[in-house]
Amino acid sequence: MHDIRLVEVGPRDGLQNEKSLVPLATKVELVNRLSATGLPVVEAGAFVSPKWVPQMADSADLMQAIARRPGVTYPVLVPNEKGLEAALAVGATEVAVFGAASEAFSQKNINCSIAESLDRFRPVIDRAKLAGVKVRGYVSCVLGCPYEGAVDPGRVADVASRLMAMGCYEVSLGDTIGVGNPRAARSMLKRVAEDVPMGRIALHFHDTYGQALANILACLELGARVFDGAVAGLGGCPYAKGASGNVATEDVLYMLNGMGLSTGVDLDALAAIGNWISQELGRPNGSKVGRAQAAQ
Ligand code: HMG
Ligand code: MG
Repeated sequence: MHDIRLVEVGPRDGLQNEKSLVPLATKVELVNRLSATGLPVVEAGAFVSPKWVPQMADSADLMQAIARRPGVTYPVLVPNEKGLEAALAVGATEVAVFGAASEAFSQKNINCSIAESLDRFRPVIDRAKLAGVKVRGYVSCVLGCPYEGAVDPGRVADVASRLMAMGCYEVSLGDTIGVGNPRAARSMLKRVAEDVPMGRIALHFHDTYGQALANILACLELGARVFDGAVAGLGGCPYAKGASGNVATEDVLYMLNGMGLSTGVDLDALAAIGNWISQELGRPNGSKVGRAQAAQ
């Protein structure tokens, strides 16, 4: 058992917003390389409408092409039963449903209200569990919404605890547009932890305003032990204008290593993957640690 579990979401959250279609072979290589670094979880794709997110349209092909490593899980997003069916058909062993703490974001992202989304998730979660598939729940906009502004932590706690009550094993709280700060992150997490055990809460910070590492530290100090990140800080949400990538996994790992907290993940290997994928995508590496390693 390591001190911290890092959930790599680069192949999904990192790539979903990429304008030009990334070749399947590059995605497969990304997932395979990530899963050889010691990461326990590599979120591989999304079974969503290809009209809404074209970049994820090849997720079934991807799931069939990757070399699944024992001990690594490869979750995929599923917004509804259609997505779940497609995920089960290619042998997904873990899926994630994704809701929001803001009504406007829920409408823009999944075309329904928060209440409708929860009704939609219930049969998805039931069927997944019957098939022996674990379900993670996401809550977006936990520290702010691009359409509604401030979001009440009580709202976040409500959606998070409903997802847990429906059978999710963990809930990942997303600062979708990266507007949080350590004080806000701390009070939001404290509020959610009144309703959901701390051990079941993951934090998912986007780094739009450069606050992600500080927010992670604030949550670590409260006892959070699971953090999402994307190699090279890839990504952004297609339904959250201006949302930049997730916090770079390498940067989180460097901080944790320095603090003496174990993850089981190889920093040099991860940083090399970040430099490679940044080159493949023709964009600057969004990880400071990755850039520092490349300069050595
Ligand atoms: P809708 O248009 O209301 O759905 O979209 P519908 O049920 O009316 O179906 C419309 C069409 O989509 C139909 O096709 C369906 O078959 C098809 P048509 O008859 O028009 O040809 N369809 C599907 N196709 C493939 N897979 C499916 C599927 N479902 C329907 N699963 C829907 C509703 C939820 C489908 C749509 O809004 C959608 O796909 N949204 C996904 C948006 C998305 O992927 N956002 C990014 C991920 S969330 C995120 O990034 C945040 C996170 O990182 C945390 C954070 O940072 O906060 C997780
Ligand atoms: Mg995200």
